[in-house]
Parts: sequence; structure tokens; C-alpha cells
Amino acid sequence: MTKQVWRGGNMLYPLPAVMVSCADASGASDIVTVAWTGTICTNPPMLYVSIRPERASYQLIRESGEFVVNLTTRRLQRACDWCGVRSGRDYDKWAECGLTPAPAAKLELAPVIAESPVNIECKVTEVKELGSHHMFLASVEAVQVDESLVDARGRLDLARAGLTAYSHGEYFELGQRLGTFGYSVRKKPIGAKKPAGKKPAGKKPAARG
Ligand SMILES: Cc1cc2nc3c(=O)[nH]c(=O)nc-3n(C[C@H](O)[C@H](O)[C@H](O)COP(=O)(O)O)c2cc1C
Repeated sequence: MTKQVWRGGNMLYPLPAVMVSCADASGASDIVTVAWTGTICTNPPMLYVSIRPERASYQLIRESGEFVVNLTTRRLQRACDWCGVRSGRDYDKWAECGLTPAPAAKLELAPVIAESPVNIECKVTEVKELGSHHMFLASVEAVQVDESLVDARGRLDLARAGLTAYSHGEYFELGQRLGTFGYSVRKKPIGAKKPAGKKPAGKKPAARG
């Protein structure tokens, strides 16, 4: 592989492009598409979204201290893109995209998007004014999941949700499963081919995340 060296820029892909729903005490509500997002702590559960202060949604989140991260599916991809190129100052994005606001379990103001299979309800704990974007660090107060994705043993089968990813300006639906967490060190059935290299001394895979 021969590499070109580029100047520093944002090149961490793929990312989820999520639909962040928010509202203030006056009843104003918005949906903003956000790709600058991620999990930042397992315990307590925390995530962040980075949003430019000029966005209409920024004010709602800053004032209410709440937002919901709604995961995007193939069915929701067009709405997700639309909410990322139009402002809540000019449009009612809920009506324009045919989306339904539904009550959050643990938030007072921000609604969840009923059509999204996973709604992550967040409360802002800190705002880091980094530059172009302000980073909202938030605690996850509750997660709503579509019952049809939960099996009889209570396990969530997210692979069936049709989730999408955002990579360098393009959207993709998640495809072929390549393995499961820790599969690279798990004991293989007798007769299966071993990967080349030294055998690790029987260690279990490390904890997830
Ligand atoms: C795929 C995608 C990802 C985006 N990611 C972000 C982001 O991480 N932060 C941000 O401030 N804006 C992001 N945007 C832009 C906002 O979603 C967009 O400016 C939106 O129209 C703002 O809406 P609002 O004014 O109603 O808040 C993204 C847009 C798209 C299409």
C-alpha cells in the first residue's frame, strides 16, 4: 500500500448518521441529523453529539438539556438526509418527513421518533465549546427498543433492524456479518482451520467497550 499524506481533517468512518430529536418548553420541536456522535462511557452510560451553534436544534438542546438519539434504518434514510439539509427554522420536519413524535420514558420535553426502532434518551451533563461544533456530553437515561427485535429470552437482534451507516458523504445499509464479538480468539470446532500465528495463552476476550 502506497500512502498519500493529507493535512489533518475528519476521516473517521463509517459513522452512524443519527436523527436527534429535541424540544423546548414552549413546544418547539426539531429533528437534526448528526454524524459527529459516539459512545463515550459504559458505566455510567454516556454518549455525545457535536452540533454547530447556528443550528436551530442547538438552541433547543442547549435550553432543555435533553435530546433523543434515534437510530436510522433503511426506511428512515431519506428522512435522515432531509433533516440534515433543511432547518427547523423553515420547516416542521416531523410533518414534512411523516414522522411521529412519541413520549420519552425519562425525559420531560424531547420526544422520540416512533418510526425509529431504537431511541436513546439523553440528558446533557456538560457542553464543550470546541470550535465549529459544541460537544454535548450526555447521560443515557433510558433506551426504547422495538419489541419485534427482542427475542423470547430478551435479547435484542439489531441485525434485523436494517441499520445504516454514513461514510465519507455516502449512506450504506449494514450488510454481511463477518463475526461476533471475540470470535477471533474463540475455540473453533474440531477440524476448523486455525489462523496462522502464535496461539495466545487461553485468554478470554476482553470486555466489550
Ligand atoms: C449525514 C449528515 C450528518 C450531519 N452531521 C452533523 C453533525 O454532526 N453536527 C451538525 O451540527 N450538523 C450536522 N449535519 C448538518 C445538520 O443536520 C443540518 O445543518 C440541519 O439542517 C440542521 O437542522 P436544524 O437547523 O433544524 O437544527 C449533518 C447533515 C447530514 C446530512
